[in-house]
Amino acid sequence: MKSVVARPLRLPAAALLALWIALPPAQADETALQLALAPGSELVAARCVICHSVDYIQMNAPIQARAGWEATVNKMIKVMQAPITAEEAAIIVQYLDGEYGAPKAVANP
Ligand code: HEC
Repeated sequence: MKSVVARPLRLPAAALLALWIALPPAQADETALQLALAPGSELVAARCVICHSVDYIQMNAPIQARAGWEATVNKMIKVMQAPITAEEAAIIVQYLDGEYGAPKAVANP
């Protein structure tokens, strides 16, 4: 006789999925607020959160100096197809280096 017992993994997976679906709206509201306010922050909020949250920027802040941010922004444009012009990229790199650049984080204990 075949057993028709439900697989025990189904419930936790469904609960995780429900949690995952429930989280994004709350994060979306905080996106602009989480960025340090400085010239360029509106541009970053407009261009860099189409695909992911600003957490990606904050997670990389302690380890990336200006060259690192330049490479990241270029990667977002070339590899990820982010719709960002060269002028906007320059402003964004300036902002990221100023607010989230590694040397500043180290110099400000
Ligand atoms: C078109 C979609 C898109 C846009 C717009 C975009 N990103 Fe990303 N970004 C991604 C994806 C996808 C990843 C994950 C890449 C990976 O895992 O390799 C990512 C990863 C990152 C990371 C993690 C480090 C890395 O290199 O993977 C950082 C930091 C980041 N993005 C910053 C930015 C910044 C700053 C902007 C605005 C200039 C931006 N992103 C705009 C798609 C985008």
